[in-house]
Order: sequence, then structure tokens, then C-alpha cells
Amino acid sequence: MLVLAAAFTAARAADDIPQLRTKGTTQQLIVDGAPFLIRGGELGNSTASDLKYLQQFWPLFGQLGLNTILAPASWELIEPVEGQFDFRSIDGLLEQARAHKTRVVLLWFGAWKNSMSSYVPAWVKRDQARFPRSQLPDGRGMEILSPFAAANREADARAFAALMAHLLAVDARRRTVIMVQVENEIGMIPHARDYSPAANELIAGEVPTALMSYLAGHGRKLASPRGTWEQVFGRGAATEEIFMAWHFATYVEAVAKAGKRVYPLPMFVNAALVRPGRQPGEYPSAGPLPHLIDVWRAGAPSIDFLAPDIYFPNFVEWARAYSVPGNPLFVPETGRAPDATPANGFYAIGELDAIGFSPFAIESYKADDALGDAYDVLRQITPLVLEHQGDDSMIGVRPPVSFDGVVDDTPQSFRLGDYTLHVAFKGTSTEPTPQRKVEAHGGLIIRLGADEYLVAGKGLIVTFSTEGAIAGIESIWEGRFVDGRWVPGRLLNGDESHQGRHLRIPEGKFGIQRVRLYRYQ
Ligand code: DGJ
Repeated sequence: MLVLAAAFTAARAADDIPQLRTKGTTQQLIVDGAPFLIRGGELGNSTASDLKYLQQFWPLFGQLGLNTILAPASWELIEPVEGQFDFRSIDGLLEQARAHKTRVVLLWFGAWKNSMSSYVPAWVKRDQARFPRSQLPDGRGMEILSPFAAANREADARAFAALMAHLLAVDARRRTVIMVQVENEIGMIPHARDYSPAANELIAGEVPTALMSYLAGHGRKLASPRGTWEQVFGRGAATEEIFMAWHFATYVEAVAKAGKRVYPLPMFVNAALVRPGRQPGEYPSAGPLPHLIDVWRAGAPSIDFLAPDIYFPNFVEWARAYSVPGNPLFVPETGRAPDATPANGFYAIGELDAIGFSPFAIESYKADDALGDAYDVLRQITPLVLEHQGDDSMIGVRPPVSFDGVVDDTPQSFRLGDYTLHVAFKGTSTEPTPQRKVEAHGGLIIRLGADEYLVAGKGLIVTFSTEGAIAGIESIWEGRFVDGRWVPGRLLNGDESHQGRHLRIPEGKFGIQRVRLYRYQ
């Protein structure tokens, strides 16, 4: 314990523990004392359970330009026998990540993984009397540990605290692990709530004062200032979902708090999202979803933010729902939609100041996937992006896509400084046969100075206007940042800019252009 305390003091003294820090209207992740932008990729669930198997993917991760991998820390692997910890799976992972200069976000697969409890150790699975499960209305147990059992919570919190103590001991000086996700996609299904006796008793009782005062203090209008769940929130599955969300959140709070007490890395929870029209019970209910954000915040104050796993095409809508004051956006998982994924990343980071982005099953990507191209550009512009997050000098652009996959390619206009920027997504091809995948188009735009903008992305045409004058294009240069220094390439004043009428980044490849404007009458 003394050794741990010393490691902790050393890390703290250097102010080097990864942490979140407010910058203007947003929060940034600080690693080694400086803002850090995650170019992530989440491993498939089982990849890191075999370290030899994982080894083969590092060249690919390098080619894709990842600076961070998201990888599970599995309860059953670290505590195969109660009270006996084995951290070889974690140490091996950190060793590989360090050898490839890559950071790690650990995902605590404790009591819950996609609603289920498949990652709990055998000694928990096999002892239903000691570690109660959620129950169906007919009393049968489910493969979902009950959040109402102190034994479940305490065993989970003990294992998580042991993991954090181990990280403190082996990683506080190296800081390979920069954040931790607590549990994974918590949710109740196929009913909105647990029907165990403990749950039945609690749902008949009063709503805890802590939840009531939080909601009242955050402007929520309630039917009654106190009373049972039904009296306060009404009757039905939506109320059952709120009830479960509170109990999941307070359980997670106990786990996160036990871990933070030892080593206070930033911690978050992630959510499986809801298909349109589904009712609580028909989707993994009560997780950290946008309509439950207040309940989760009230119940789990040790959790720094709630994060969406965005597999649906309407990325923009979901990302916006999580980008709310006090909740920095981080997308720990997103689907393998080769066309839309990189543009979504640019949008999240440029428009919503996301601290990072991370497609799922990253080992299934190909080295020449557009993601590598996008991450290469993102890597080059990272210092500028971090400098401009949190104020109004940067925007992200992409055509929004509906849940059904319909792309709205209507041009968009933005006021950025003294100019209005009109962004179109169609007609950007330089190829004889255009790809016509407008959902792949997108990027971000930074106002560098009074008359200067940087545009990074692909499939974009930008024109400019200003009040009281005509906005002219003085010059457009494409280029790259090498070690943070701008190295101009071609000067684009001919066909590439329609003879100075607009800025265009063709749809084939992510690129960077800098434009200087001037005014005339
Ligand atoms: C979301 C989960 O969080 C992941 O662990 C994985 O199961 C993916 N779904 C699979 O699509």
C-alpha cells in the first residue's frame, strides 16, 4: 500500500494523471500535461484475450494512424479465483501498446457487457444464491446480474479497484492508460426492469431524495415533490426505465468511486442507442441514454461523461444529443461504414469538439481504408484543432444522414468571423465517373485569422460571402503539416478552384487547403 501511495503521490505531484480540463465551452482530455485528441480504434471483444493474436495487428494500427486503442479489461481474466488477481492480460496489452507508442482506453467488462453478464468470473456465474441475477416476471433468473444486490456491487467494485491499483503501480509513470470505461452498454432487456424481490420492493417505495433534489435542482418538472416512482413519474415502462437507470447508475457510482479513490483516471460509461419507435424493454433500457442523462448524472457523479456507441446512420443526431454542457463528446464505438465513418469523425471533432473518435473492430479494417487517410490529415492538424476547440472559430461539416440512410446533401452556410461560408457536397468529383457517395463527404474548417481559413476534409466545395463587399479569393494553397509546420504544396488558382471562384477538395482523398480572402466592390 505504501508503494502504491508513493506512486500515486509521484504521479500527482507531476500533475500528470490524465484528466479532463475545461477549455471555453468544452472539456479536453489532458495527457502528460497537454491536450490530447484520440485517433482511436476499438478492438473486437476477444482480440486482446490472446496477446499473440493481438500482436499481428500492430502494423495495421500504425498504417491507420491510431494513437489510441480501446481494449477490454475482463473481470473473468483478472480474477479467475476470488481474491486472486492475475494481471498478465493487462500487462501484456500495455507492453504491446507501449512498444508501438500507442495509448490505451481500458474498457472494464465487469458485471455487464451489452446488458449481459458474460464477462463475470465463473465463481460469480455459478453462485446464484450469493450473486443474485435479475429476474423475469415469472421469477426465472436471467444472464444479467441484478444491480440491486450488494454482493454483486461489492465484488465488482473490489475487482475494479484492484485493477486501478495495478494500473497505478505499473502505469502511473508511463500513463499508457488514459481513460477507463466502466462496464459496457448497460441495459435491461427484454423487460424494462428487473423483477427480483429486491427490485419489486424498491419500486413500490419512494423515489430517493437524492434523485428528487437533483432533478428539481436541474429544472425538471415533476408531478409530485415526493412519492413513489409511479406517483412522481407516472405508470408504465418509461418509469420502470428511470427506476432501473437510477439503480444501474448508483451501482456504477460505487464501482467507479472505488477505482477513482485509488487512481483517478477519467471514467465514462457507454450506451447502446435506441431504434426509432422502440419502447423501454424492447431495447437495452436504462443505460446512459440521452433521455436519462439527468438520472445518470445524479446517480453516478464519479463518471465524467456519458458516451454513445453510434452504429446507426444518423450519426449527427446522436452525436449532438451527447454533446451537451458538461458532457464532452467521445465516440468509443462506431460502425464499420467505410463511406461515412471518417467524415463522421471530422464532424464530431470539428463541430462538437469531441475528445476523440473510435471505430469498432479496428483490426478488421484494411490498411488502405479511408480511415487511414482521414487520420493522417487529423494527425497533421491536431495542434490547430486542439487550439480552436471550445471557441467559435471552428466548424465541422458533413451532410446529415437519416436513420433510414437518406443523405441530405443540401448546401449548408455558416458564419465564421467576418465571412459566411457556403459549403456544398455535390459536384466535387474530378473523376470521369464520380463516386456519388455523398455520405463520405465532410471535414472541418478553422478560422486562422481575419481573412484566412483552413479547410480539411474531402468532397467539399466552399464559396464565401461577406457583408458590404464581395469576397474574393486571394490564394488557395494545398499542403501538409510536417512536425506542426505548414509546408505548402500546389497553388490552386486554376481549374482546381474554378479559376478562383471557390475552394474545392475533391471527393477521392482527405486533404488540407488554406485560403486567403479579400474584399472588393
Ligand atoms: C457494441 C458493444 O459495446 C461491443 O462490445 C460489441 O459487442 C459491438 N456492439 C458489436 O457490434
